Amino acid sequence: MLLAAADPETGRAMTDEEIVDNLMTFITAGHETTALGLAWTFHLLALHPAIETRVLEEIATVTGGQAVAAEHVAKLAFTRQVFSEAMRLYPPAPIITRTAIRDFVLGEYLVAAGTIIYVPIHAVHHHTALWDYPEVFDPDRFAPEASKARHRCAYMPFGAGPRVCIGNAFAVMEAVAVLAVLLSAFKVSAASASPPQPIMKVTLRPKQSLVMRVEERHGSASGKPRSR
Ligand code: HEM
Repeated sequence: MLLAAADPETGRAMTDEEIVDNLMTFITAGHETTALGLAWTFHLLALHPAIETRVLEEIATVTGGQAVAAEHVAKLAFTRQVFSEAMRLYPPAPIITRTAIRDFVLGEYLVAAGTIIYVPIHAVHHHTALWDYPEVFDPDRFAPEASKARHRCAYMPFGAGPRVCIGNAFAVMEAVAVLAVLLSAFKVSAASASPPQPIMKVTLRPKQSLVMRVEERHGSASGKPRSR
C-alpha cells in the first residue's frame, strides 16, 4: 500500500527513503506500545482473578470453545474494556508534547511561541477530579453507559486531536486478539512478591523485569499442569 500510495493533489509517490522512514515509525510506534499495554494487562489480571474469570467466560461464550478467529475479536467487549482500563492505569505513552507555534493565552498563563507544553497523560488518567478511586482497576469504567459522559480528554492513551495515534484501532484489535488467544491457553500469575514500579523511559515500562509464571491451562500431554 505504501509503494502504491500517491499524494491525491500532486500524484507524487514516496521515495524509498520515505517508505523506510514510515515503516520504521510503524514498527517503533506500534510494537513497544502495544507490547507494554499487554504486559501491564497481564500483570493486572494476575492480581484480579475475578476479572480474569469474567474475561475467560466472555472468550468461551464468544468462541464457543473453538480457536479464537478474526470474527470473534470485535465481540470481545469486556476483554477490550480490560485493555482500556490497563492503559488508563499504565498508559504506554504517558506524556506527549506540543510546541506553541504562536503566543496564546491558556487560562491565566501567556504561553510564548516556542514553548514546549507537556500533556501529562498518566497524571490525567489518575486525577481524582476526573476519576472515582483512580487507583482501582475497574474495567467497568469503560462499559458504554459509563463512558458516555466522560470528557474526551479525560482518557487519551492514543492522544487526541489531529495527531491522534494512527494505529489506535489496529492496536486495540491486536491486543484483544493476543489476550484472547493467550489467556485461553495459559494462566499467567505474578511471580514476584513486590509489584512492578512503572518508570517512564519514553514509554511507561516496568522498572524491573515483569517476571510472571505461565502455566498451560489444559495441562501437558501427561495431564499435569506445566509451568514455563
Ligand atoms: C497500545 C498501543 C499504542 C499506543 C498507546 C499509542 C500511543 C500513541 C500516542 C499517544 C500518539 C500521539 C503522539 C502525540 O500526539 O504526540 C501516537 C501517535 C502515533 N502512533 Fe501510536 N500508539 C499505539 C499503537 C500504534 C500502532 C500499532 C501504530 C502503527 C501501526 C502506531 C503508530 C503511530 C503513529 C504513526 C503516530 C503518529 C501519528 C501522527 O503524528 O499523525 N501506534 N501513538
